[in-house]
Amino acid sequence: MILPATGLLAQLGAASPLVAAPMAGGPSRPELVLAASRAGGLGFLAGGYKNAAQLQAQISAVQSETSLFGVNLFVPNPVPVSRQDFARYRSELQRWIRQYVDRAHDAEETSDRAHVAEVALPIDARVDDDAWDEKLALLEEQPVPVVCLTFGLPAEQDMRRLQATGATVVVTVTDASEAARAQAAGADGLIVQSTAAGGHHGSWTPVRKPEQVSLRQLLANVRVRSDLPLWAAGGLSTPEAVHAVLAHGAEAAAVGTVLLRSGESGAQVAHQQALAEASPELSTVVTTAFSGRPARALPNAFTADLTAQAPLGFPALHHLTASLRRAFAEVGDPEGLNLWAGTGFAEARQEPAEVILRRLAGQ
Ligand SMILES: Cc1cc2nc3c(=O)[nH]c(=O)nc-3n(C[C@H](O)[C@H](O)[C@H](O)COP(=O)(O)O)c2cc1C
Repeated sequence: MILPATGLLAQLGAASPLVAAPMAGGPSRPELVLAASRAGGLGFLAGGYKNAAQLQAQISAVQSETSLFGVNLFVPNPVPVSRQDFARYRSELQRWIRQYVDRAHDAEETSDRAHVAEVALPIDARVDDDAWDEKLALLEEQPVPVVCLTFGLPAEQDMRRLQATGATVVVTVTDASEAARAQAAGADGLIVQSTAAGGHHGSWTPVRKPEQVSLRQLLANVRVRSDLPLWAAGGLSTPEAVHAVLAHGAEAAAVGTVLLRSGESGAQVAHQQALAEASPELSTVVTTAFSGRPARALPNAFTADLTAQAPLGFPALHHLTASLRRAFAEVGDPEGLNLWAGTGFAEARQEPAEVILRRLAGQ
């Protein structure tokens, strides 16, 4: 059965109820967003970690070929970390790098790991707002059809500014109370994200442990508090799973991990290889070790050795580990990379994104 778009997504002009979820750090490049549009769905550019000029270039690239797409922004909502905890974790990281270099097995590994060991970790915690104001100004100057927000709710006047651009504003929520607050703040729709999702959990309060509820149950909980259109996200990787959420109150299925190995994905080569080589039985892990915010990833040496020690602290820990992760990517070593992956990672295949999205929609 081929699934048609309905509700808000259909009003926006989509034919299929499949959304290519935003994935910052490389994967959601313009090619992926355009593939989603060719599949009849809606794709998101990931504004997170980019400066306004980089985002502007991607928006222009997409806008020249389609009028149906969205942009995702990180709402400034820093998760604090004490100076002591930051300094302690920085020392742990330095110790871990030294041990990792010592554990090299052969000459090639020794040379790759020596490159990683050259990285100087920043001494001070950096907390920024991910260029929020600049990106808001960009979206006012160059409006886009849909804006999706994650990590929190913006200030009232910022929400009004975004809506005044003419954009449909969709807010990521992870429980019923966030859903009620997003609706009260004037959101046009909700991305309902379960803890099965790959990458960062969009929770507004990561200090609170999330309830372990299935995506279907989460949709039901949210529906009690909100009558907005719901786009379901988290672990969706098969047509059956997509059908199930559409039959349980969602208007669309937003998928991330299942697109990471697609031809249009800009995910690091080592990330794509790790997904390809992971045993389907492998369990993903939730860790704050890379960024200071809980995120779901494939396990590797970094998560195994540092998850227990890592405090919360976003974006301070993100900036602390950024150059280290870059060095691991440069030598193609997945053991120190944030291998974001949702529970459905075993279905991520090397195919055109359009083929993946059409299959998920039953076409
Ligand atoms: C590599 C990666 C990067 C992500 N980056 C973002 C992001 O920048 N903004 C955001 O709102 N969600 C981000 N997410 C979450 C996705 O938007 C989406 O909620 C999630 O991928 C859905 O679960 P799935 O991965 O199991 O399909 C990311 C997910 C992954 C796998």
